[in-house]
Formats: sequence, structure tokens, C-alpha cells
Amino acid sequence: MRQNATRALPVGGYLPVRMRHWISIGLVAAGVLRSVHAASIPDVLQKVDPATGKASDTTTEFSVSGIVSARATLAGDVVLAFVQPPGGVGLPVVASKADAALLAPRNEVTLAGKLGDGPFGWAALKINSGSVTLQATNKAFGASEPRGVAFFKDASASEGRYVQLTNVTLAAGKFSGGTLQATGDGGEVTVRVSTATTGRDVPTAKVNVFGVPVKVDGKWELLAARILPVDGRTAQTLAAKHTCLTCHNPDTKMVGPSYRDIAARYKDDAEALPKVLSQIERGGTGRWGTVPMPPLGAKVPEADRKVLGEWILFYRWDAVLAD
Ligand code: HEC
Repeated sequence: MRQNATRALPVGGYLPVRMRHWISIGLVAAGVLRSVHAASIPDVLQKVDPATGKASDTTTEFSVSGIVSARATLAGDVVLAFVQPPGGVGLPVVASKADAALLAPRNEVTLAGKLGDGPFGWAALKINSGSVTLQATNKAFGASEPRGVAFFKDASASEGRYVQLTNVTLAAGKFSGGTLQATGDGGEVTVRVSTATTGRDVPTAKVNVFGVPVKVDGKWELLAARILPVDGRTAQTLAAKHTCLTCHNPDTKMVGPSYRDIAARYKDDAEALPKVLSQIERGGTGRWGTVPMPPLGAKVPEADRKVLGEWILFYRWDAVLAD
């Protein structure tokens, strides 16, 4: 309730507005109240010098609303996220792990804090403990701009925007919880991932990595929010052909659960693929609610079912990268 302290002033009602205003200012100046300035994200970004990345205002407490596009837990359990208006440029925010539970991609949130130096030296809004509130889940935050490896030599034109690094191969092996190299088009880009990925197998297929370009030590990297296979389009076409998309959407719940939610539930389950393939073949009910899924084994060839099952489970990276 701290942010609403000004509004909860007991001197309201019969006092003229102007007088109430001065009383509030007096109390703020006297340190009795804290004043929070409701601002739009573009307004707050105006307080950051584009040349240096430093904040010109570190004293105002801003309250902003926006949709989370990317989030990663960094070393030391600091969480870096981007909060943006739909289709717009994101404001970097940093929070402790305890305060970051609601900072999941596609959540619309309201939060408050002051600008300060973020984990990589450039300005970020440092979130007041307890100030994050959820307005809505599953909000679309705008299309991703496809970009090749070469773009990341200088990604400043897309700073803070949600982009798609297309057609890359990730350095083989296991995630080590920080960065890894993505190779494509004869070049390389550093992809920054949540420490929660540590120890997991890196996907071996060619992938598109979605996320927000960030500058670290003078070099542009991609803060990853989603990894999908490059041949996902083939799977999507199959899903449309076999009527899956009349009941399912990758991102939002329809008659059936979203593919993102299905994959998140099975992200740590070694038996995920057989479970999902069994549901596609035989149908079922009770795992997600009371609406049954019809058996589709007779209509969908086994090879297609496998492509669909693997594609759906790829959405687990959404949950893993946002852990
Ligand atoms: C008529 C609507 C409908 C169609 C068509 C449909 N589904 Fe489903 N699907 C559902 C419902 C409802 C559920 C949730 C069932 C439950 O609660 O167990 C579901 C659940 C699932 C699950 C989750 C399984 C699990 O183990 O949790 C997967 C995977 C899935 N569907 C894939 C597909 C694929 C692939 C297709 C197309 C080949 C498809 N669905 C077509 C309605 C549908």
C-alpha cells in the first residue's frame, strides 16, 4: 500500500484541491510520505542517456505498467527482465529473486522503483520490494523482428526490442548457466540465458532464439526468452492440417491448454515425449480439466505425431529460460 499513501491522506474531502496538493508536498518533503510518479515506459526511458546508458534521474520513484518480454536469473540470483508496452521498446528492470516471481514473459505487471545501475552497468529500474502486481497473463507483446547473426555487430537499432535471432546452431553440450555461442551466417553471437538452464542439454537442431538485445562489456548479446526449432513452421503446418490448432494455440489457452503450458508442465519430466504422444494417439481427459481431447491416432500418421510432440515440447524453453 505504500504507493497509495498520498491518496490515503486523511486531509481529503472538504479541503480545496490546491491546498491538499501543497500539504502532500510538505509531507513528502518532510519525509512523512513517499511519492510515486506513475509514468509510461517511454517516459522513463527518456531518463536514460542513449550514449552512456546511464540514468539522468535516480531519485524519482516511478510506477510503470507493461508486459514482460524476457527474463533471466543472472549470477547472484539477480533477475533482469524487460517490461514493454505492446510492440514497443522495453524498460530493463532488476529484482531480487523473491520479488521476481510475477516477472514471467507475457505477464502484464505494474511495478515501482528508481533508476540505477543495472547488472551490466547500464540503467535499469530497481524494483521496490513487494511492488510487483499482476494485471493479466498471456498478453501478446508484439511480433519479433527476424535478425541474422551479423545484425548483432551493432544491435543498437533494436535495443530493448523483442527480436528473433534466426537460423543458428547453439554450441553443443550442456548449458553452464550464463552464456553460450550461437553460430550462423559465418558469424557468432553470444546468447545469455538464465542460470536455471545449468546442466540441461543444449538443443542440437538449428534454432531461432527470441529475446532482447543487450550490451555487455561493449558487445551486443541476446538475452534469450524462447528457443524454437527452425523447422517449427513445418510442425505448425502439420498442426493446422490435423486440426490441432482448432483447439490449441501455442501461447494461449483455448479449448485445450496452450502448448507453452503443456511444455512447462513437463519441462523436468524424462517421460514427457511418450506421455504427450500417447495423448495425441489415444486422446484423454483430466490432466488439464474436464474437457476431453479426442483420440487422433487413426487420423494422424505416427511420423506426424512425433514431429508434433517434439515441437510442442520445445516450448519448455520458455519456462526454463524464465526460471
Ligand atoms: C477437439 C479439441 C482438440 C483437438 C482437435 C486437439 N486437442 Fe489436444 N487437447 C484438447 C484438450 C481439451 C486437452 C486437455 C485434456 C486433458 O485435460 O487431459 C488436450 C491436451 C493435449 C495435450 C496435453 C497432453 C498431456 O499429456 O498433458 C497435447 C500434447 C495435445 N493436446 C496435443 C494435440 C495435438 C498435437 C493435436 C492435433 C493432432 C490436438 N491436441 C488436437 C483438445 C484438443
